[in-house]
Amino acid sequence: MRPKGSEGMPSQMEPWYRNAVIYSLSVETFMDGNGDGIGDFSGLRDRLDYLESLGVDALWLAPTYPTPNRDDGYDITDYYGIDERLGSSGDFAEFLFEADGRGMRVLLDLVVNHTSDRHPWFFSAQSSEESDYRDWYVWSRKRPRAARSGVVFPGVQGSTWSYDQKARSWYFHRFYDFEPDLNMENPRVRDEIHRVLSYWLRLGVAGFRVDAVPFIIEKPRPEGGAAELHFEYLRELREVVQWRRGDAILLGEANVVPRDDEHYFADGDGLHLMFNFWVNQHLFASLATGDARPLASALAATRKIPARAQWAYFLRNHDELDLGRLQPREREAVFGRFAPEATMQLYGRGIRRRLAPMLGDQRRLEFAYSLLFSLPGAAVLRYGEEIGMGDNLRLRERDAIRTPMQWTNGRNGGFSTSEQLIRPAIGKGPYGFDAINVEEQLRRPDSLLRWMIELIRIRKECPEIGAGEWHILPTRSRQVLAVLYTLRDSAVLCLHNFDETPREITVDLKMTSSGERLRSLLDQQASHGPAGRHRLRLEPLGYEWYRVG
Ligand code: NOJ
Ligand code: CA
Repeated sequence: MRPKGSEGMPSQMEPWYRNAVIYSLSVETFMDGNGDGIGDFSGLRDRLDYLESLGVDALWLAPTYPTPNRDDGYDITDYYGIDERLGSSGDFAEFLFEADGRGMRVLLDLVVNHTSDRHPWFFSAQSSEESDYRDWYVWSRKRPRAARSGVVFPGVQGSTWSYDQKARSWYFHRFYDFEPDLNMENPRVRDEIHRVLSYWLRLGVAGFRVDAVPFIIEKPRPEGGAAELHFEYLRELREVVQWRRGDAILLGEANVVPRDDEHYFADGDGLHLMFNFWVNQHLFASLATGDARPLASALAATRKIPARAQWAYFLRNHDELDLGRLQPREREAVFGRFAPEATMQLYGRGIRRRLAPMLGDQRRLEFAYSLLFSLPGAAVLRYGEEIGMGDNLRLRERDAIRTPMQWTNGRNGGFSTSEQLIRPAIGKGPYGFDAINVEEQLRRPDSLLRWMIELIRIRKECPEIGAGEWHILPTRSRQVLAVLYTLRDSAVLCLHNFDETPREITVDLKMTSSGERLRSLLDQQASHGPAGRHRLRLEPLGYEWYRVG
Protein backbone atom coordinates (compact mmCIF):
# COMPACT_ATOMS: atom_id res chain seq x y z
CA MET A 1 0.00 0.00 0.00
CA ARG A 2 1.25 3.44 -0.86
CA PRO A 3 1.17 5.49 2.32
CA LYS A 4 -1.28 8.36 2.10
CA GLY A 5 0.39 11.69 1.64
CA SER A 6 3.82 10.30 0.77
CA GLU A 7 3.39 10.44 -3.02
CA GLY A 8 6.43 11.91 -4.68
CA MET A 9 8.49 11.70 -1.49
CA PRO A 10 12.08 10.75 -2.26
CA SER A 11 12.88 7.36 -0.73
CA GLN A 12 15.45 8.78 1.68
CA MET A 13 12.54 10.64 3.27
CA GLU A 14 10.91 7.37 4.33
CA PRO A 15 10.84 7.21 8.11
CA TRP A 16 13.47 4.66 9.11
CA TYR A 17 11.09 2.30 10.85
CA ARG A 18 8.91 1.62 7.82
CA ASN A 19 11.49 -0.67 6.27
CA ALA A 20 13.59 -1.69 9.25
CA VAL A 21 15.04 -5.01 10.33
CA ILE A 22 14.83 -5.16 14.11
CA TYR A 23 16.76 -7.70 16.17
CA SER A 24 15.29 -8.60 19.53
CA LEU A 25 17.38 -9.94 22.36
CA SER A 26 17.52 -10.35 26.09
CA VAL A 27 20.78 -8.97 27.51
CA GLU A 28 20.63 -11.61 30.24
CA THR A 29 20.94 -14.55 27.82
CA PHE A 30 22.94 -12.99 24.98
CA MET A 31 26.57 -12.79 26.12
CA ASP A 32 28.19 -12.83 29.54
CA GLY A 33 31.11 -10.40 29.66
CA ASN A 34 32.23 -10.79 33.28
CA GLY A 35 31.90 -14.54 33.72
CA ASP A 36 29.19 -14.60 36.41
CA GLY A 37 26.80 -16.69 34.30
CA ILE A 38 24.47 -13.80 33.43
CA GLY A 39 24.55 -11.97 30.12
CA ASP A 40 25.41 -8.28 30.44
CA PHE A 41 26.01 -5.03 28.59
CA SER A 42 29.74 -5.54 28.29
CA GLY A 43 29.10 -8.92 26.64
CA LEU A 44 26.53 -7.41 24.33
CA ARG A 45 28.95 -4.62 23.41
CA ASP A 46 31.48 -7.23 22.32
CA ARG A 47 28.89 -8.76 20.03
CA LEU A 48 27.88 -5.55 18.24
CA ASP A 49 30.22 -6.32 15.34
CA TYR A 50 28.35 -9.56 14.86
CA LEU A 51 24.99 -7.75 14.91
CA GLU A 52 26.32 -5.20 12.45
CA SER A 53 27.40 -7.97 10.11
CA LEU A 54 23.85 -9.32 10.21
CA GLY A 55 22.71 -6.00 8.76
CA VAL A 56 20.08 -5.14 11.36
CA ASP A 57 18.92 -1.54 11.82
CA ALA A 58 17.76 -1.62 15.41
CA LEU A 59 17.95 -3.69 18.57
CA TRP A 60 14.98 -4.21 20.86
CA LEU A 61 16.17 -5.16 24.32
CA ALA A 62 13.90 -7.13 26.66
CA PRO A 63 13.50 -5.21 29.96
CA THR A 64 16.84 -4.18 31.48
CA TYR A 65 15.54 -2.40 34.62
CA PRO A 66 16.13 -3.49 38.22
CA THR A 67 13.83 -6.42 38.88
CA PRO A 68 13.20 -9.35 41.21
CA ASN A 69 13.07 -11.20 37.87
CA ARG A 70 10.01 -13.30 38.46
CA ASP A 71 8.69 -12.53 34.96
CA ASP A 72 11.97 -12.26 33.09
CA GLY A 73 12.34 -8.57 33.91
CA TYR A 74 8.76 -7.54 33.11
CA ASP A 75 8.36 -7.00 36.88
CA ILE A 76 10.15 -3.70 37.46
CA THR A 77 11.24 -2.03 40.70
CA ASP A 78 12.88 1.10 39.23
CA TYR A 79 12.13 2.65 35.84
CA TYR A 80 15.24 4.82 35.92
CA GLY A 81 17.88 2.16 36.39
CA ILE A 82 19.75 -0.72 34.85
CA ASP A 83 19.58 -4.04 36.67
CA GLU A 84 22.96 -4.45 38.33
CA ARG A 85 23.24 -8.03 37.14
CA LEU A 86 23.45 -6.62 33.59
CA GLY A 87 25.98 -3.91 34.36
CA SER A 88 26.04 -0.31 35.51
CA SER A 89 24.37 2.71 33.96
CA GLY A 90 27.85 3.53 32.65
CA ASP A 91 28.03 0.16 30.86
CA PHE A 92 24.66 0.93 29.33
CA ALA A 93 25.82 4.35 28.13
CA GLU A 94 28.97 2.83 26.60
CA PHE A 95 26.86 0.26 24.84
CA LEU A 96 24.61 3.01 23.43
CA PHE A 97 27.65 4.87 22.08
CA GLU A 98 28.99 1.77 20.43
CA ALA A 99 25.64 0.86 18.89
CA ASP A 100 25.29 4.43 17.66
CA GLY A 101 28.73 4.30 16.08
CA ARG A 102 27.57 1.36 14.01
CA GLY A 103 24.34 3.09 13.00
CA MET A 104 22.21 0.75 15.10
CA ARG A 105 19.27 2.17 17.01
CA VAL A 106 18.28 0.85 20.40
CA LEU A 107 14.72 0.30 21.59
CA LEU A 108 13.91 -0.43 25.21
CA ASP A 109 10.93 -2.33 26.54
CA LEU A 110 8.43 0.05 28.12
CA VAL A 111 6.50 -1.91 30.72
CA VAL A 112 4.08 0.51 32.34
CA ASN A 113 0.93 -1.55 32.63
CA HIS A 114 2.24 -2.79 35.96
CA THR A 115 5.20 -2.66 38.31
CA SER A 116 6.67 -5.38 40.47
CA ASP A 117 4.92 -5.81 43.82
CA ARG A 118 8.31 -4.89 45.28
CA HIS A 119 8.41 -1.48 43.64
CA PRO A 120 8.71 1.24 46.34
CA TRP A 121 5.52 2.79 44.94
CA PHE A 122 3.59 -0.38 45.70
CA PHE A 123 5.12 -0.74 49.16
CA SER A 124 4.00 2.77 49.92
CA ALA A 125 0.56 2.24 48.38
CA GLN A 126 0.04 -0.89 50.50
CA SER A 127 1.11 0.78 53.69
CA SER A 128 -1.77 3.20 54.11
CA GLU A 129 -4.80 4.71 52.48
CA GLU A 130 -3.19 8.07 53.11
CA SER A 131 -0.11 7.23 51.05
CA ASP A 132 0.58 9.52 48.10
CA TYR A 133 0.99 6.38 46.07
CA ARG A 134 -2.25 4.65 47.11
CA ASP A 135 -4.09 5.65 43.97
CA TRP A 136 -1.16 4.81 41.74
CA TYR A 137 -2.60 1.31 41.76
CA VAL A 138 -6.10 -0.10 41.27
CA TRP A 139 -7.93 -1.13 44.48
CA SER A 140 -11.28 -2.50 45.47
CA ARG A 141 -12.50 -2.68 49.07
CA LYS A 142 -15.06 -5.32 48.19
CA ARG A 143 -14.19 -8.72 46.74
CA PRO A 144 -14.41 -8.07 42.98
CA ARG A 145 -16.98 -10.16 41.19
CA ALA A 146 -14.70 -10.48 38.18
CA ALA A 147 -11.69 -11.79 40.11
CA ARG A 148 -11.44 -15.01 38.13
CA SER A 149 -12.00 -13.63 34.66
CA GLY A 150 -9.58 -12.24 32.12
CA VAL A 151 -6.42 -14.00 33.31
CA VAL A 152 -3.61 -13.82 30.77
CA PHE A 153 -1.74 -16.93 31.89
CA PRO A 154 -4.46 -19.55 32.46
CA GLY A 155 -3.21 -22.59 34.34
CA VAL A 156 -0.51 -20.55 36.10
CA GLN A 157 -2.36 -17.41 37.17
CA GLY A 158 -5.61 -17.95 39.09
CA SER A 159 -7.18 -14.49 39.14
CA THR A 160 -6.86 -10.85 38.14
CA TRP A 161 -7.63 -9.46 41.61
CA SER A 162 -5.81 -10.52 44.78
CA TYR A 163 -6.34 -9.58 48.38
CA ASP A 164 -3.52 -7.64 50.00
CA GLN A 165 -3.34 -8.16 53.76
CA LYS A 166 -1.41 -4.98 54.45
CA ALA A 167 -3.65 -2.76 52.37
CA ARG A 168 -6.79 -4.63 53.47
CA SER A 169 -8.00 -4.29 49.94
CA TRP A 170 -8.06 -6.13 46.65
CA TYR A 171 -5.66 -4.99 43.95
CA PHE A 172 -5.90 -5.54 40.22
CA HIS A 173 -3.24 -7.40 38.28
CA ARG A 174 -3.90 -8.23 34.65
CA PHE A 175 -0.87 -10.55 34.70
CA TYR A 176 0.74 -12.43 37.63
CA ASP A 177 -0.23 -11.48 41.20
CA PHE A 178 3.26 -10.01 41.72
CA GLU A 179 2.60 -7.48 38.94
CA PRO A 180 0.05 -4.96 40.27
CA ASP A 181 -1.42 -2.75 37.54
CA LEU A 182 -0.70 0.95 37.63
CA ASN A 183 -3.74 3.20 37.67
CA MET A 184 -3.60 4.98 34.35
CA GLU A 185 -6.61 7.10 35.27
CA ASN A 186 -4.32 8.93 37.65
CA PRO A 187 -2.67 11.92 35.89
CA ARG A 188 0.30 11.67 38.25
CA VAL A 189 1.01 8.16 37.01
CA ARG A 190 0.83 9.35 33.43
CA ASP A 191 3.17 12.26 34.20
CA GLU A 192 5.63 9.87 35.75
CA ILE A 193 5.55 7.67 32.65
CA HIS A 194 6.28 10.74 30.54
CA ARG A 195 9.33 11.42 32.69
CA VAL A 196 10.47 7.83 32.18
CA LEU A 197 10.21 8.33 28.41
CA SER A 198 12.11 11.62 28.63
CA TYR A 199 14.84 10.06 30.68
CA TRP A 200 15.68 7.23 28.29
CA LEU A 201 15.18 9.29 25.15
CA ARG A 202 17.59 11.85 26.54
CA LEU A 203 20.11 9.10 27.14
CA GLY A 204 19.85 8.24 23.47
CA VAL A 205 17.43 5.38 22.92
CA ALA A 206 15.47 5.45 19.66
CA GLY A 207 12.15 4.43 21.14
CA PHE A 208 10.29 1.70 22.92
CA ARG A 209 8.60 -1.60 22.42
CA VAL A 210 5.45 -0.96 24.42
CA ASP A 211 4.38 -3.93 26.50
CA ALA A 212 0.74 -4.98 26.78
CA VAL A 213 -0.81 -1.93 25.08
CA PRO A 214 -4.50 -2.97 25.32
CA PHE A 215 -4.08 -3.45 29.06
CA ILE A 216 -2.32 -0.12 29.57
CA ILE A 217 -5.29 1.71 28.12
CA GLU A 218 -8.05 -0.36 29.73
CA LYS A 219 -10.02 0.79 32.73
CA PRO A 220 -10.33 -2.27 34.99
CA ARG A 221 -13.84 -3.04 36.28
CA PRO A 222 -14.20 -5.01 39.51
CA GLU A 223 -17.72 -5.94 38.47
CA GLY A 224 -16.53 -7.46 35.16
CA GLY A 225 -17.86 -6.91 31.64
CA ALA A 226 -16.14 -5.40 28.62
CA ALA A 227 -13.31 -3.05 29.59
CA GLU A 228 -13.41 0.60 28.62
CA LEU A 229 -10.37 1.45 26.46
CA HIS A 230 -8.74 4.88 26.49
CA PHE A 231 -7.17 5.15 23.08
CA GLU A 232 -6.57 8.88 23.49
CA TYR A 233 -3.73 7.96 25.83
CA LEU A 234 -1.79 6.54 22.87
CA ARG A 235 -1.92 9.95 21.18
CA GLU A 236 -0.62 11.49 24.38
CA LEU A 237 2.28 9.03 24.53
CA ARG A 238 3.09 9.60 20.88
CA GLU A 239 3.17 13.32 21.38
CA VAL A 240 5.48 13.07 24.36
CA VAL A 241 7.89 10.83 22.44
CA GLN A 242 7.82 12.92 19.28
CA TRP A 243 8.41 16.20 21.06
CA ARG A 244 11.44 14.82 22.78
CA ARG A 245 12.98 13.04 19.83
CA GLY A 246 11.53 13.44 16.35
CA ASP A 247 12.63 10.10 14.94
CA ALA A 248 11.86 8.00 18.03
CA ILE A 249 9.19 5.35 17.80
CA LEU A 250 6.66 3.32 19.72
CA LEU A 251 6.40 -0.32 18.69
CA GLY A 252 3.28 -1.69 20.30
CA GLU A 253 2.45 -5.15 21.52
CA ALA A 254 -1.28 -5.43 20.90
CA ASN A 255 -2.70 -8.79 19.90
CA VAL A 256 -6.00 -7.48 18.60
CA VAL A 257 -8.50 -8.12 15.81
CA PRO A 258 -8.11 -6.16 12.55
CA ARG A 259 -11.15 -3.95 13.11
CA ASP A 260 -9.42 -2.46 16.17
CA ASP A 261 -6.10 -1.68 14.48
CA GLU A 262 -7.17 1.80 13.46
CA HIS A 263 -7.69 2.81 17.10
CA TYR A 264 -4.13 1.87 17.98
CA PHE A 265 -2.66 3.64 14.96
CA ALA A 266 -4.97 6.61 15.68
CA ASP A 267 -4.86 8.16 12.18
CA GLY A 268 -1.07 8.11 12.29
CA ASP A 269 -0.90 9.82 15.68
CA GLY A 270 -0.80 6.67 17.81
CA LEU A 271 1.66 3.80 17.69
CA HIS A 272 4.23 4.05 14.91
CA LEU A 273 4.53 0.30 14.62
CA MET A 274 2.50 -2.64 15.86
CA PHE A 275 3.40 -6.28 15.85
CA ASN A 276 1.09 -7.96 13.39
CA PHE A 277 -0.20 -10.82 15.54
CA TRP A 278 -3.08 -11.42 13.16
CA VAL A 279 -0.75 -12.16 10.26
CA ASN A 280 1.61 -14.10 12.53
CA GLN A 281 -1.08 -16.58 13.55
CA HIS A 282 -2.50 -16.99 10.06
CA LEU A 283 0.98 -17.40 8.63
CA PHE A 284 1.36 -20.44 10.90
CA ALA A 285 -2.03 -21.70 9.76
CA SER A 286 -0.70 -21.50 6.18
CA LEU A 287 2.57 -23.19 7.10
CA ALA A 288 0.68 -26.00 8.83
CA THR A 289 -1.77 -26.65 6.02
CA GLY A 290 0.25 -25.82 2.90
CA ASP A 291 -2.54 -23.42 1.90
CA ALA A 292 -1.45 -19.81 1.35
CA ARG A 293 -4.97 -18.42 1.68
CA PRO A 294 -5.13 -17.84 5.46
CA LEU A 295 -2.00 -15.68 5.21
CA ALA A 296 -3.23 -13.89 2.09
CA SER A 297 -6.53 -13.05 3.80
CA ALA A 298 -4.76 -11.87 6.95
CA LEU A 299 -2.55 -9.56 4.90
CA ALA A 300 -5.62 -8.19 3.16
CA ALA A 301 -7.47 -7.75 6.48
CA THR A 302 -4.64 -5.67 7.96
CA ARG A 303 -3.80 -3.77 4.81
CA LYS A 304 -5.28 -0.36 5.55
CA ILE A 305 -3.04 1.61 7.86
CA PRO A 306 -2.23 5.32 8.06
CA ALA A 307 0.69 6.78 6.12
CA ARG A 308 2.98 7.20 9.08
CA ALA A 309 2.21 3.80 10.58
CA GLN A 310 3.73 0.44 9.83
CA TRP A 311 3.42 -3.23 10.68
CA ALA A 312 6.18 -5.16 12.37
CA TYR A 313 6.11 -8.76 11.20
CA PHE A 314 7.72 -11.62 13.07
CA LEU A 315 7.76 -15.39 13.19
CA ARG A 316 8.63 -16.10 16.83
CA ASN A 317 9.01 -13.84 19.81
CA HIS A 318 10.03 -14.43 23.44
CA ASP A 319 6.53 -15.55 24.45
CA GLU A 320 4.39 -18.49 23.43
CA LEU A 321 3.27 -18.57 19.81
CA ASP A 322 -0.23 -17.36 20.59
CA LEU A 323 -2.87 -18.98 18.36
CA GLY A 324 -5.84 -17.58 20.24
CA ARG A 325 -7.15 -15.58 17.27
CA LEU A 326 -7.42 -18.55 14.90
CA GLN A 327 -10.58 -20.51 14.25
CA PRO A 328 -10.59 -23.72 16.37
CA ARG A 329 -10.09 -25.82 13.24
CA GLU A 330 -7.05 -23.77 12.18
CA ARG A 331 -5.61 -23.81 15.69
CA GLU A 332 -5.92 -27.59 15.86
CA ALA A 333 -4.13 -27.87 12.52
CA VAL A 334 -1.21 -25.78 13.83
CA PHE A 335 -1.04 -27.68 17.13
CA GLY A 336 -1.27 -31.00 15.27
CA ARG A 337 1.53 -30.12 12.92
CA PHE A 338 3.91 -28.13 15.15
CA ALA A 339 3.13 -28.98 18.79
CA PRO A 340 1.49 -32.40 19.01
CA GLU A 341 2.58 -33.04 22.61
CA ALA A 342 0.95 -31.36 25.61
CA THR A 343 4.30 -30.16 26.96
CA MET A 344 4.86 -28.15 23.76
CA GLN A 345 1.66 -26.19 24.35
CA LEU A 346 1.02 -23.40 26.81
CA TYR A 347 -1.93 -21.53 28.36
CA GLY A 348 -4.35 -23.55 26.21
CA ARG A 349 -3.71 -21.27 23.25
CA GLY A 350 -0.05 -21.30 22.32
CA ILE A 351 3.16 -23.11 21.56
CA ARG A 352 6.32 -22.78 23.63
CA ARG A 353 8.77 -23.93 20.98
CA ARG A 354 11.33 -22.20 18.85
CA LEU A 355 10.84 -22.20 15.11
CA ALA A 356 13.62 -24.60 14.09
CA PRO A 357 12.32 -27.63 16.04
CA MET A 358 8.81 -26.84 14.80
CA LEU A 359 9.76 -26.75 11.15
CA GLY A 360 12.47 -29.37 11.27
CA ASP A 361 15.01 -28.54 8.58
CA GLN A 362 16.93 -25.71 6.96
CA ARG A 363 14.91 -25.74 3.75
CA ARG A 364 11.71 -25.06 5.67
CA LEU A 365 13.41 -22.40 7.78
CA GLU A 366 14.66 -20.63 4.68
CA PHE A 367 11.18 -20.73 3.25
CA ALA A 368 9.72 -19.23 6.45
CA TYR A 369 12.31 -16.45 6.69
CA SER A 370 12.10 -15.64 3.00
CA LEU A 371 8.39 -15.19 3.64
CA LEU A 372 8.99 -13.04 6.74
CA PHE A 373 11.43 -10.72 4.98
CA SER A 374 9.06 -10.34 2.04
CA LEU A 375 6.13 -9.14 4.16
CA PRO A 376 5.25 -5.49 3.56
CA GLY A 377 6.57 -3.84 6.70
CA ALA A 378 9.39 -3.96 9.22
CA ALA A 379 10.75 -7.40 10.14
CA VAL A 380 11.63 -8.49 13.66
CA LEU A 381 14.10 -11.29 14.18
CA ARG A 382 14.69 -12.84 17.59
CA TYR A 383 18.17 -13.76 18.78
CA GLY A 384 19.15 -17.31 17.90
CA GLU A 385 16.66 -17.56 15.04
CA GLU A 386 19.40 -16.71 12.57
CA ILE A 387 21.21 -19.94 13.45
CA GLY A 388 18.11 -22.08 14.02
CA MET A 389 18.37 -22.50 17.80
CA GLY A 390 16.13 -24.99 19.60
CA ASP A 391 14.19 -25.02 22.86
CA ASN A 392 14.40 -26.75 26.22
CA LEU A 393 10.95 -28.02 27.19
CA ARG A 394 12.15 -28.96 30.64
CA LEU A 395 12.22 -25.27 31.57
CA ARG A 396 9.02 -23.70 32.89
CA GLU A 397 6.49 -21.82 30.79
CA ARG A 398 8.13 -19.51 28.27
CA ASP A 399 11.66 -20.05 29.61
CA ALA A 400 11.81 -23.01 27.20
CA ILE A 401 12.69 -20.58 24.41
CA ARG A 402 14.88 -18.21 26.45
CA THR A 403 18.10 -20.22 26.64
CA PRO A 404 21.58 -18.68 26.19
CA MET A 405 22.75 -17.66 22.73
CA GLN A 406 24.97 -20.29 21.14
CA TRP A 407 28.19 -18.69 19.93
CA THR A 408 30.65 -21.59 19.72
CA ASN A 409 30.88 -25.31 20.38
CA GLY A 410 32.97 -24.59 23.50
CA ARG A 411 31.94 -24.48 27.14
CA ASN A 412 28.37 -23.21 27.60
CA GLY A 413 28.22 -22.56 23.88
CA GLY A 414 30.62 -19.64 24.34
CA PHE A 415 27.95 -17.70 26.28
CA SER A 416 29.78 -17.70 29.62
CA THR A 417 32.78 -19.17 31.39
CA SER A 418 30.80 -19.66 34.61
CA GLU A 419 29.78 -22.99 36.18
CA GLN A 420 26.31 -21.67 36.95
CA LEU A 421 24.23 -20.02 34.26
CA ILE A 422 21.13 -17.90 34.44
CA ARG A 423 19.51 -20.69 32.43
CA PRO A 424 21.19 -23.83 31.11
CA ALA A 425 22.56 -23.63 27.58
CA ILE A 426 21.28 -26.31 25.22
CA GLY A 427 24.22 -28.70 25.20
CA LYS A 428 22.96 -31.91 23.69
CA GLY A 429 20.97 -33.21 20.76
CA PRO A 430 20.41 -31.78 17.30
CA TYR A 431 19.98 -28.25 18.68
CA GLY A 432 22.86 -28.35 21.16
CA PHE A 433 25.68 -25.82 20.81
CA ASP A 434 27.97 -28.53 19.43
CA ALA A 435 25.81 -28.66 16.35
CA ILE A 436 24.24 -25.18 16.24
CA ASN A 437 26.47 -22.18 16.85
CA VAL A 438 27.47 -18.87 15.27
CA GLU A 439 31.14 -19.67 14.79
CA GLU A 440 30.51 -22.81 12.77
CA GLN A 441 27.79 -21.21 10.68
CA LEU A 442 29.84 -18.15 9.85
CA ARG A 443 32.50 -20.43 8.44
CA ARG A 444 30.18 -22.66 6.39
CA PRO A 445 28.92 -21.08 3.15
CA ASP A 446 25.68 -23.09 3.02
CA SER A 447 24.67 -22.42 6.64
CA LEU A 448 21.38 -20.83 7.68
CA LEU A 449 23.28 -17.87 9.13
CA ARG A 450 25.15 -17.10 5.88
CA TRP A 451 21.89 -17.49 3.98
CA MET A 452 20.13 -15.10 6.40
CA ILE A 453 22.86 -12.45 6.16
CA GLU A 454 22.54 -12.57 2.38
CA LEU A 455 18.75 -12.40 2.50
CA ILE A 456 18.82 -9.35 4.78
CA ARG A 457 21.27 -7.72 2.34
CA ILE A 458 18.90 -8.43 -0.54
CA ARG A 459 15.96 -7.13 1.45
CA LYS A 460 17.87 -3.89 1.92
CA GLU A 461 18.07 -3.61 -1.86
CA CYS A 462 14.30 -3.75 -2.06
CA PRO A 463 12.80 -0.64 -0.45
CA GLU A 464 9.69 -1.48 -2.48
CA ILE A 465 8.76 -4.11 0.11
CA GLY A 466 8.26 -1.90 3.15
CA ALA A 467 7.83 1.47 1.52
CA GLY A 468 5.88 0.75 -1.65
CA GLU A 469 2.43 -0.39 -2.65
CA TRP A 470 1.69 -4.10 -2.72
CA HIS A 471 -0.77 -6.38 -4.43
CA ILE A 472 -1.43 -10.07 -4.11
CA LEU A 473 -1.46 -11.44 -7.66
CA PRO A 474 -3.82 -14.21 -8.71
CA THR A 475 -1.92 -17.46 -9.40
CA ARG A 476 -4.79 -19.96 -9.63
CA SER A 477 -2.95 -22.01 -7.03
CA ARG A 478 -4.04 -21.87 -3.44
CA GLN A 479 -0.60 -23.10 -2.39
CA VAL A 480 1.31 -20.17 -3.87
CA LEU A 481 1.46 -16.62 -2.58
CA ALA A 482 2.57 -14.05 -5.17
CA VAL A 483 3.03 -10.48 -4.02
CA LEU A 484 4.03 -7.60 -6.26
CA TYR A 485 5.56 -4.52 -4.62
CA THR A 486 5.92 -1.27 -6.50
CA LEU A 487 7.62 1.97 -5.60
CA ARG A 488 7.54 4.70 -8.22
CA ASP A 489 8.90 2.99 -11.38
CA SER A 490 10.41 -0.07 -9.80
CA ALA A 491 8.84 -3.36 -8.84
CA VAL A 492 9.71 -6.54 -7.00
CA LEU A 493 7.83 -9.82 -7.14
CA CYS A 494 8.05 -12.43 -4.36
CA LEU A 495 6.69 -15.94 -4.72
CA HIS A 496 6.27 -18.61 -2.06
CA ASN A 497 5.05 -22.15 -2.62
CA PHE A 498 3.63 -23.52 0.65
CA ASP A 499 3.23 -26.96 -0.84
CA GLU A 500 5.47 -30.01 -0.48
CA THR A 501 5.15 -30.65 -4.22
CA PRO A 502 6.35 -28.45 -7.09
CA ARG A 503 3.84 -25.95 -8.48
CA GLU A 504 3.61 -24.16 -11.79
CA ILE A 505 1.93 -20.82 -11.86
CA THR A 506 1.31 -17.99 -14.29
CA VAL A 507 1.73 -14.37 -13.28
CA ASP A 508 0.67 -11.48 -15.40
CA LEU A 509 2.83 -8.36 -15.07
CA LYS A 510 1.55 -6.41 -18.03
CA MET A 511 0.18 -3.79 -15.68
CA THR A 512 3.59 -2.85 -14.27
CA SER A 513 5.20 0.14 -15.92
CA SER A 514 8.73 -0.99 -15.12
CA GLY A 515 9.09 -3.65 -17.76
CA GLU A 516 8.32 -7.23 -18.26
CA ARG A 517 11.52 -9.11 -17.61
CA LEU A 518 12.07 -10.95 -14.34
CA ARG A 519 15.56 -11.04 -12.87
CA SER A 520 16.02 -13.27 -9.86
CA LEU A 521 17.46 -11.49 -6.84
CA LEU A 522 18.35 -14.78 -5.16
CA ASP A 523 19.92 -16.60 -8.07
CA GLN A 524 21.78 -14.29 -10.43
CA GLN A 525 21.58 -16.80 -13.28
CA ALA A 526 17.82 -17.01 -13.46
CA SER A 527 15.83 -14.60 -15.53
CA HIS A 528 12.64 -14.78 -17.56
CA GLY A 529 11.08 -12.77 -20.30
CA PRO A 530 10.51 -10.41 -21.83
CA ALA A 531 6.96 -11.65 -21.82
CA GLY A 532 4.59 -9.82 -19.49
CA ARG A 533 2.95 -13.14 -18.69
CA HIS A 534 5.31 -15.60 -17.05
CA ARG A 535 4.89 -19.29 -16.48
CA LEU A 536 7.04 -20.12 -13.48
CA ARG A 537 7.87 -23.31 -11.65
CA LEU A 538 8.42 -23.38 -7.92
CA GLU A 539 10.05 -26.27 -6.10
CA PRO A 540 8.43 -27.81 -3.00
CA LEU A 541 8.53 -25.01 -0.41
CA GLY A 542 10.22 -22.99 -3.13
CA TYR A 543 10.58 -19.23 -2.96
CA GLU A 544 11.74 -16.62 -5.44
CA TRP A 545 12.35 -12.89 -5.35
CA TYR A 546 12.46 -11.13 -8.72
CA ARG A 547 13.17 -7.60 -9.78
CA VAL A 548 10.73 -6.70 -12.53
CA GLY A 549 12.09 -4.89 -15.57
C1 NOJ B 1 3.95 -9.29 27.53
C2 NOJ B 1 5.37 -9.76 27.51
O1 NOJ B 1 5.75 -10.04 26.19
C3 NOJ B 1 5.43 -10.97 28.41
O2 NOJ B 1 6.67 -11.62 28.29
C4 NOJ B 1 5.14 -10.53 29.83
O3 NOJ B 1 5.09 -11.66 30.68
C5 NOJ B 1 3.82 -9.79 29.90
N1 NOJ B 1 3.63 -8.82 28.86
C6 NOJ B 1 3.70 -9.05 31.21
O4 NOJ B 1 4.56 -7.93 31.18
CA1 CA C 1 27.63 -11.20 33.58
